[in-house]
Order: sequence, then C-alpha cells, then structure tokens
Amino acid sequence: MKILFVLALCLAIVMAKPAEDLVKEVPDMGKFDQFDFYSGYLDIPNKQRKLHYVFAESQNDPANDPLVIWFNGGPGCSSMLGFVQEHGPYSMPDGEDTFYENPYSWNTEANMLYIESPAGVGYSYYWGDDNGESNDLASSEENYAALESFYQKFPEFLDNDLFITGESYAGIYVPYLAWQVLEHGKKYNLKGIIVGNGVANRTFMDGAFEGMGFWHNLYSLKMFDDILDNHCDFANIDIMEDGEEDTEKCEKLEKEFGELISSLNPYDVYRECYKSDSKDRLGSTIIDGKVKTYKRGMTAQEYTPFFFEGKGKTALGHVPPCVYASGTTDYLNRKDVREALHITTDQPWEICVGGERIFYTTGAKQSHWIYPILKDQNIRVLQFSGNADGVVPTQFTRDWIHSYGWPKVRDTAPFFAENDSKVGGYVEYYDGMTFATIIGVGHMAAQWSPAATKHAVYQFLKNEPIDQ
Ligand SMILES: *[C@@H]1O[C@H](CO)[C@@H](O)[C@H](O)[C@H]1NC(C)=O
Ligand SMILES: *[C@@H]1O[C@H](CO)[C@@H](O)[C@H](O)[C@H]1NC(C)=O
Repeated sequence: MKILFVLALCLAIVMAKPAEDLVKEVPDMGKFDQFDFYSGYLDIPNKQRKLHYVFAESQNDPANDPLVIWFNGGPGCSSMLGFVQEHGPYSMPDGEDTFYENPYSWNTEANMLYIESPAGVGYSYYWGDDNGESNDLASSEENYAALESFYQKFPEFLDNDLFITGESYAGIYVPYLAWQVLEHGKKYNLKGIIVGNGVANRTFMDGAFEGMGFWHNLYSLKMFDDILDNHCDFANIDIMEDGEEDTEKCEKLEKEFGELISSLNPYDVYRECYKSDSKDRLGSTIIDGKVKTYKRGMTAQEYTPFFFEGKGKTALGHVPPCVYASGTTDYLNRKDVREALHITTDQPWEICVGGERIFYTTGAKQSHWIYPILKDQNIRVLQFSGNADGVVPTQFTRDWIHSYGWPKVRDTAPFFAENDSKVGGYVEYYDGMTFATIIGVGHMAAQWSPAATKHAVYQFLKNEPIDQ
C-alpha cells in the first residue's frame, strides 16, 4: 500500500512537468533523448505578456544539480543567443549555419533555464493594451513573475540550489532578480549569481576602452603619454554629466582612438568583425501564411545600446556591425523550428530588438548598489570578464569591484581548465565577490573560450576555488 502510494506520488511529480512543452528533437539541431528538454511560455499574471523559455535539464543528476537561469543583455537581446551560440547542448559557431554537439554545454551538471526577457524580445511577446514599455525595475518584477511561473510548471525544482546568471546588460537583470528574490522573503533556494562582462556603474566606463586598448597595443606609447599629460579621462565624451567641456586635445585624441579601432570588432579586438551589408541585412519567412521580414544582422548600437548612451557623434558611433547573427536568425525563423519550439506568436525572431518592439528605459541607479545587499545575505557572486572586450572592458569590471574596498580572502592566481596547460585566466577573491578574467577573448567569453569559462563557472557553482 505504502509502495503504491509512493509510486502514485512519484507519478504525480513526473506528471507535474508540462508535457506540452516537452521537445524530443529540433530539426537540424539535434535530438534530446539523453536529458529532458522543454520549450514554451511562462505566464506573467495580470499582464498581457508571455515570456518564452527553453529548459535543458542536467545530463547528470537533474534532481540534485543546481537550477541555473541565464539572461542575455541589450536591453533587447534574446537569451536564445546564449542557448544556440554560447553554452547550449548544441551550438552554431560564428560564420556557420550548422549545429554541433557542444562538449562545453553548461547543462552537463546543471539544469539550464534560458528566459527571453522582457516581453517583446525574441519569441517573448505582449498583446492588447500593453505598450511594450519596460525598465530595470519593471523587468526585474517581470522576471520574478516568470520565475514563479516556472516553479509552478516544474515544482520538482523548488528545492534545487538556484543560481541566476547572464552577460552584458544582464549585469542589471541578474542582480536585480536576485534582489527581488530576497525582497520576496527568499522563498527559493538562491545561492549565488554569475555575471559575464556585465554593466554595473557607468562611472567606471569612462576611459575603460581606451585603457584596455593601450594594454592590448591598439595604439602607441606616444599617444598614451599624450592622454596622461592632458589628463584625459574621456568622461565628458562618454557621459555629459558634469557639464564641463572636454578639452580640444582630449577630443582629438578620442577621435584618433576611434579611427584606430574603427575596423576592429569592439566585442573582441582579436576577433573577426562580421559585416552584414545592406542587401542581406533583411531576411524573410512565412509565419501563419504571412510573409514576415526580420533583421539578420545587427549593428553594435542595437546589440549594446548602453555603450552608446550620450556618446553623441564621436567616432565610436561608427563602430561597424560585427556580431555574427545571420545563421542563427535564419534558423530560428524556420517554420519547422518554430513549431518544434512551440512558438505561439507570429512575431519574427531577431537576436536584438530596439525601439520598434520594446520601449526600455535604462535606469540611472544601475546595479552597483545591489552587491552589498547580496553580500549581507550571503549570496555568492562571480564576475567573469573576457579581457579582449572593448564594450564592457575588464578594466571597468576590475575598477567598480575594487571601489567597494572589500578585503581579499585568497591570493590572486592564474587558473587552468581541466587538462589544459594554457592559462584560462586569473582569479581574485574578495569577501563578497569573486572576479575571474578569461584571457584572450571578449564579450562572449563563454562561446569563445568555452573550456576556461565553463571551468570558472562550474568551480563557482560547486563553491570550489577556481584556481584548482
Ligand atoms: C558609481 O560609483 C561611484 C564611485 O564609487 C559612486 O559615487 C556612484 O554613486 C555610483 N553610482 C551609482 C549609480 O551607484
Ligand atoms: C581529463 O583527462 C582525464 C584523463 O584522460 C579524462 O578522464 C577526463 O575526462 C578529462 N577531462 C576533460 C574535461 O576533458
């Protein structure tokens, strides 16, 4: 009798997973028969909004492995980018249009949940009277509501350790959502957060690209000396905050720097810049019998709008479009792919959307203020930073972390991915925050140095030192 009861209970738990969201195969991506994979929508109560999610259960021990949520940034960029290009079970390399099994998938020992946020981004949508407006606080409330909806669909994960992760503008989404969890009485088992090349406090962005540019030999010692001699911090160019006119000399140096880097990929100064010329910038597909067009590529301005705020018409405004997107964008607009993923909107999928679909106001508060709160509540924090990124440079991350003055708790050290003799990066341990660089790659460190990034992330999830 007892056994029967336990069996019935197990069955009830198994049944609790949403069968209608289960995906067995995605055409030309691969089969999902070694672990459960879901794609569907999370309701936002009292809103005319639904957020699309994909959920790849752990390949190891889903019942006990942590639940890890991932967000890409923008604002306006889709977390499907993380899933299809960075650390999903199958990934499409830059410049190609085929998927390969990804040995560095983050779901080998973690349950990976990707949420496209806010509504309007990717396959996530709003309808009716909703005007698509959002901001840092509203998006954190929406993400919290999505998390609650997720736990309603998958109650068996309520007790798993929870980690919230993401990159770039998710430097806002991630700590904000962690703060929401704390504000709601820490109902869930939140253990930590991870942010890659994330924003936090714009003040430290002043001159950060110029600083990293020098140490990556993008310009001469003579120019560096001129910058120092003229006390250029490029603050007035980056943000017109203090109302001071930047000196003519500094403006000239800034322009010179802009010209020197104009042919580089600002997201990774060592990497190819993918150019999408105007003729193949648009793609088209048929959804519900109607022809729809979509952007296949994007400009840096669309990808990281925060980078350009207040920059006016400096040379940086002409950063070329460099991020590879056409292969994944064509793929995710295929009818058979959308059907396999249970997509219920007729809106075409784009890697990043701007003012034509979401209306996002970025906040002045940013996320610098949240980290001391997380520290007080023993929420562990990892910041990792691909050190060839010019958009959210390592110098920026290092400096805002340093500004807290938190004591070091372990010596700074190089670290190595398993079986890898080449250094993966360097790690610093502060009381309240771990900071790992990922060397030789930029903004999408998880994609471009997958072994080192996964090593840092997994050691952190396991609460083990990264230099081990
Ligand atoms: C950014 O950092 C500076 C220097 O620590 C600080 O004065 C400022 O208040 C911070 N800005 C925000 C919005 O947290
Ligand atoms: C490292 O090498 C050992 C011994 O060859 C092997 O068992 C293990 O799977 C390797 N680890 C990775 C991450 O490749």
